[in-house]
Amino acid sequence: MSELDQATLTAGEKSVVMPVLKPTLGNSCVDISKLTKETGLFTYDSGYTATASCKSAVTYIDGDAGVLLYRGYPIEQLAKNSSFLEVAYLLMNGELPTADEFAKFDHEVAHHTMMHEAFKNFLGGFRHDAHPMAMMVGMVGSMAAFYHNTLDLEDPEQRRLAAIRLIAKVPTIAAACYRYSIGWPVRFPRNNHAYVDRFLHMMFEVPSEPLDLNPVAAKALDLLFILHADHEQNASTSTVRMVGSTGANPYACVAAGVAALWGPAHGGANEAVLKMLAEIGKPESVSSAIDKAKDKESGFRLMGFGHRVYKNFDPRAKIIREMTHEVLAELGVNDPMLEVALRLEEAALKDDYFVQRKLYPNVDFYSGIIYKALNIPTEMFTVMFAIARTAGWVAHWLEQQVDPEAKIGRPRQIYTGYAERDYKGIDQR
Ligand code: SDX
Repeated sequence: MSELDQATLTAGEKSVVMPVLKPTLGNSCVDISKLTKETGLFTYDSGYTATASCKSAVTYIDGDAGVLLYRGYPIEQLAKNSSFLEVAYLLMNGELPTADEFAKFDHEVAHHTMMHEAFKNFLGGFRHDAHPMAMMVGMVGSMAAFYHNTLDLEDPEQRRLAAIRLIAKVPTIAAACYRYSIGWPVRFPRNNHAYVDRFLHMMFEVPSEPLDLNPVAAKALDLLFILHADHEQNASTSTVRMVGSTGANPYACVAAGVAALWGPAHGGANEAVLKMLAEIGKPESVSSAIDKAKDKESGFRLMGFGHRVYKNFDPRAKIIREMTHEVLAELGVNDPMLEVALRLEEAALKDDYFVQRKLYPNVDFYSGIIYKALNIPTEMFTVMFAIARTAGWVAHWLEQQVDPEAKIGRPRQIYTGYAERDYKGIDQR
């Protein structure tokens, strides 16, 4: 990267010299904060493709090299050696925990997993066939109603406690939404279970018999949670930060993040991938799906393909792709959709349309096949993403709360409406 210290923008008679801010890793940034004052100009960057919204030390992505670091640790090493709860601690605190620190964190999270009994009244208000993400948005947002007396955001301990409560309770709420949708009674979290085991028990244990939890399933889900835990300033994390910039409470911020994640262009893609693979149905139909994805008129996109930042393989997709084969083999699952996915990937990676646009499989392309093998229903796939991403959302929210440069998010626009005009009475229109 060039050792640029400043950039000059010349606009007509005016030119303004702006400082260039240097990161630890990645692209340097031009600080345009004085641009408008000196030139009267705004900048325009739909979708913020080249705009840094904040300074952050949580996660680093190199899209060209396919690199993903959580607090400096490569995702491949964390996937191999860590656990989701340890990664949640790392994202929140910036360092890996010692054994004592982890034991304390694990104990604290375990003892904040219960929901207030009144939560169940909200569940009863939903139709049984409500999409679980609709329930999650409502239920997570309503957490503020139960903790309104510990929302002094000036108090670091109350901020930390809110983060712990979210990491601890979002799985409980998620499992309750699932149980409600199938008419089963809500299961209480067990403090003696590990984080993912606890969640799977709340999801699948029936009152009439203990759950025989397959350790392969628990390990696979823990790994998927690690891979989904954070991803820099993605749409849902940016939403959490935008809401956080107004001083809103963390439960409202994370509820907004859940809502943003739901979209099929973002976290909703894993559910959309499974539906797409089911529609394609068989390997022989892959080529027509590729043709449709290349035809702009069709409005069809290959879900699970492409990424705003990765113009190389998404490192998470590589890890999930490898684990898919192992998990399905160890669970004895033979899913024909895996063959369709493999053939779709192979065909797309050879096709000029995708190669030229650097469209590779992303984190969502294979994850649904594993969730399906774990008997998690398709509508719950994005809920899985939300459980994991809660760790990243709270890490960014905590970072934002102590950022001396943080201010309320308030983008400008290019106004394309009418110039001023006079009102006409209805009889004159
Ligand atoms: C996630 O930001 C994050 O970090 C997100 C995430 C995270 O961990 O938080 O990684 C999680 O959201 C992964 C992405 C999941 N979404 C999908 O899989 C949905 C399908 N993918 C796309 O819709 C798209 O690729 C995006 C939304 C992911 C990225 O869109 P961009 O960066 O805005 O790119 P674009 O829409 O401008 O597309 C560039 C070109 C266009 O063609 P041209 O106009 O240049 O001719 O590529 C084409 C697009 O039409 N294109 C696709 C495509 N994705 C982009 N064509 C077919 N199929 C696709 N999937």
